[in-house]
Formats: sequence, structure tokens, C-alpha cells
Amino acid sequence: MDEQVQQCLAELRARAQGFVPEVGIVLGSGLGGLAGEVHVVASLPYGELPGFPVPGVGGHAGRLVLGRFRDTPVALLQGRSHYYEHGRADTMKAPVRVLSALGCKTLLLTNAAGSLRPEMAPGSVMMVTDHINFTGQSPLFGETGDARFVDMIDAYDPDLRQRLRVAAASAGVRLHEGVYIWFSGPSFETPAEIRAAGRLGADAVGMSTVPEVILARHAGMKVAALSVITNFAAGLGGEKPSHLETLRVAAQRGGEDLRRILNVFFAS
Ligand code: HPA
Repeated sequence: MDEQVQQCLAELRARAQGFVPEVGIVLGSGLGGLAGEVHVVASLPYGELPGFPVPGVGGHAGRLVLGRFRDTPVALLQGRSHYYEHGRADTMKAPVRVLSALGCKTLLLTNAAGSLRPEMAPGSVMMVTDHINFTGQSPLFGETGDARFVDMIDAYDPDLRQRLRVAAASAGVRLHEGVYIWFSGPSFETPAEIRAAGRLGADAVGMSTVPEVILARHAGMKVAALSVITNFAAGLGGEKPSHLETLRVAAQRGGEDLRRILNVFFAS
């Protein structure tokens, strides 16, 4: 195991002896408030965990929280770093590998995304069924050995998707489903890029998540991802995409529905 991962494990085990999380959670832009749902056992700033990124984007706190979300022991990453921050697709390598090494069998990713579908308005929640990596980048560049040839069929685990469908229905939240396309950012997309993305089969667009999915599948974790739709993608009407709007909508309508879904999901 990587030395940084070992150091993080030692640090976390010293703070939360005997605590074994089952599910890792990554909270996206504007969704950090969901950490408030967790009954905290320990909470550490990323700065105390070797290899963890120091988040440079507003709306990302940079804390790892261990605790219980309803009945489920979880390890929650409050904030992520992105490919566009340093031009490296593997910035979430240490966090994902630490969650796996801590015992998380499942990784639940959340993000803010733009919608390509007229009926999926800002405030909606979309469960990701598959993705398109439009950046040409991989967090596994430089890895050796056969394990790097990760199979990406059903990368978004069918059983978890079914459980999320059931949780959303019982929470009374409409859950959209669709394909997420990863653009590098940090500029938002052009209308022509969004038209192209639609023709390629995308339903939502964002600047994160896909590298974490690849890392998690490489680590053998099951993955699920939920997007909070914060805007219509460029050229599809509505406001111009902006980071402030992303944070505002994620923290309000969509974030509230996400909270309701997860409260049922983690109680079951
Ligand atoms: N594009 C890319 N990323 C995003 C968007 C968008 O329209 N909205 C929220 N994150």
C-alpha cells in the first residue's frame, strides 16, 4: 500500500479507534451542508492527511468526517479537488484509496451539474447511470500492472441504483436518470460543445466525479453517483451558467431533495 495512504490510515485509526465505515461519500459544490446529517465520530481537515488535496474552490470545505449517517457508518469527504485546479486528473487518488483502505466497500459521489434535458430543470436530482469521459484524461495514467485495465461496464452499480430508486420514491423525490459527461472546465462549455454532448448521448454535464469513479472501480469499490442540477447547460436557455448560481441552487432546492433521498437510503 502507498506510504501516504498508510500514514492517513494511522492518523484516522488514532482518532476513531475501531470505527469501520461502510460507505464513502463525496460532497460536491454547494452540498457540504449534508455533512450536518452525520453523527460525527471524528473530523479532520485535509491538511492533516498526507496526499489529500487542499481544496481551492469556494463551496468545498476540505474535511474528512467519520460518523454515522442514520444507521450507516460512513466516511464523508466534504469537498473535492478537480482536474482543472492543477491539470492533474489524479488529485482525488489519495482520498479514494484511503476510503477504500478504511473499509468502505461503496463510494457514493455527489456533484452539481448542468442539464441537457428540458424536463430536468434546475433543482432536479439525477442519478448517474453511465458517463462519457470527454477530457481524454485518466487518474490511472502512470499506473502499472494489469489492474489498470479497469472494466467500466456497470461502473455505476445496478444494485445501488435500484436501492436509490426505492429510497427516492419513498422520500417522495422525483429521481431522474441519465448519462454524465465530464468536461475539464474551469470555463463553462460553449453552446456548440453542449450540442455535441447531447448528440453523444449526455444528459448532464459537469467538471468532476468521473476520475473518482475510475479510481474507485480500480480500488474494487461499488459506485453510485447523484447529480444536483443547478442550471440548464450553455445555450439551452435560462441563466448563464455561473459558479455562484451553482452553489446557490445546490445548497437549496436540489440539496434538500438529495438530503431526503440519502436519509432514506442510509436508514435502509
Ligand atoms: N457545466 C459544467 N459544470 C457544471 C455546470 C455546467 O453547466 N453546472 C454545474 N456544474
